[in-house]
Amino acid sequence: MQFTDLKAQYAALKPAIDARIQRVLDHGQYIMGPEIGEIESALAAFTGSKHCITVASGTEALLIALMAIDLRAGDEVITSPFTFAATAEMIVLAGGKPVFVDIEADTANIDATLIEASVTPRTKAIMPVSLYGQCADMDAINAIAARHGLAVIEDAAQSFGASYRGRRSTALSTFGATSFFPSKPLGCYGDGGALFTDDDALAQAAREIRVHGQSARYRHTRIGVGGRLDTLQAAVLLAKLPRFESELQRRHVLGARYTRGLQGLPGLRTLAVRPDRDCVWGQYTVFVTRDRDAVQAALKDSGIPTAVHYPLPLHHQPAYAAHCCADCCPASVAASRQVLSLPMSADLTEDDQDRVIAALTEALPR
Ligand SMILES: Cc1ncc(COP(=O)(O)O)c(C=O)c1O
Repeated sequence: MQFTDLKAQYAALKPAIDARIQRVLDHGQYIMGPEIGEIESALAAFTGSKHCITVASGTEALLIALMAIDLRAGDEVITSPFTFAATAEMIVLAGGKPVFVDIEADTANIDATLIEASVTPRTKAIMPVSLYGQCADMDAINAIAARHGLAVIEDAAQSFGASYRGRRSTALSTFGATSFFPSKPLGCYGDGGALFTDDDALAQAAREIRVHGQSARYRHTRIGVGGRLDTLQAAVLLAKLPRFESELQRRHVLGARYTRGLQGLPGLRTLAVRPDRDCVWGQYTVFVTRDRDAVQAALKDSGIPTAVHYPLPLHHQPAYAAHCCADCCPASVAASRQVLSLPMSADLTEDDQDRVIAALTEALPR
C-alpha cells in the first residue's frame, strides 16, 4: 500500500499528461512558456482570486509573499509552531521573527482567540497554516489583522481546494500561498507552488520578486529571487486540473469514511472539522492518545505506511527554540506526541482503507 498513490493518478490521466508534456517539448519554452499564464488564469478562476502567481515551490510562495509585504529586519510574524518548518523558516530567512501562538487541540490549527495577545508594535503579519487541509479560522484572523493593520498570509500548502464559509482556501486573506509538491491535494511532478491575492500592487510585487525583482527585462526594481514555476510543471497541473474537482469529492468521501470507521475507538481521537468549512485531507491525521509510536510500529509490521506530521513543534526544534519558551504552546506539544497520518489520496481504494481501519483498530492498546 502506498502512503500517497501517485501511480494510480498518473495511470488515470496518462494521455492528457503525456500530451501536455509533449506540447512543451515541441514548443521548447521551458521557462515562462504559455502554460504558465494558462494555469494562472485557470487557478485564479478556480479559487476566485483576482491574481494567481505561480512560483517554484510552496516555500518560495511564502518567502515571496513576505518580501512583497515588505517585511523588514526585526518585524514579527505570528504563526503556529505546529507546522512544517518552511512556514517559520521563511519568516526568519526574510529577516523576521516568528512569534508562535498555540493551536486548538481538536483541529490542530492556530487558536485565533490567542493571537491578539501576541500582537506588538513590531507585528507585521499573521501567517496561519491551514493544516491537514482544513482552513484556520480565517475571518477571525482577518478581523484581528484589520484592527491592527496587519497582512494575513495563509499557508495553504495542505489545503488547496478546501472551502471556508463558501470561499476557497488561498482566496481568504492578503495572500494565500500553496504548494504543488507531488503529494499535495493538487500536485505536480516536482516542486511547484502559487500565490493568490486580490491586491493589484501586491500581485505586481510578487511577479517581480519571482524574477529577481525585474519590472522589465534587466531592470531590477527590487530585490527578488529565482522563483519561477517550470513550464513543464504548469503543463502537468493543466492536465490534472480537470480531474481535481472529482478528486476533492473523493477525498471528502474517503475522509468521512475514515472518520466513521475510527469513531469511538479507545485511545484514538479523529480531527474535528468545523461546520463552516471542510477538510480536503491533505493528510488524514488522527490523534493516538496512548503509545502512538508503538501503534505506528504495529501498523508498519502490518504493511501500512504512516507518517507523523509533525514529531516536534517548531519551538522545540533547535533552529527555532530561541523564538519561544519551551513550555509555551502546550497544545502543540501534546499534538506532536499523538498525531499519526494514515494513507490518503484520491486514488486510495475502499479495500485498502478498510485494511488500514482494521489494522489500526487492532494496533491500539487495550
Ligand atoms: C504547511 C506547509 N507549508 C509549506 C510547505 C512547503 O511547500 P513546498 O514543499 O512546496 O516547498 C509545506 C510542504 O510540505 C507545508 O506542508
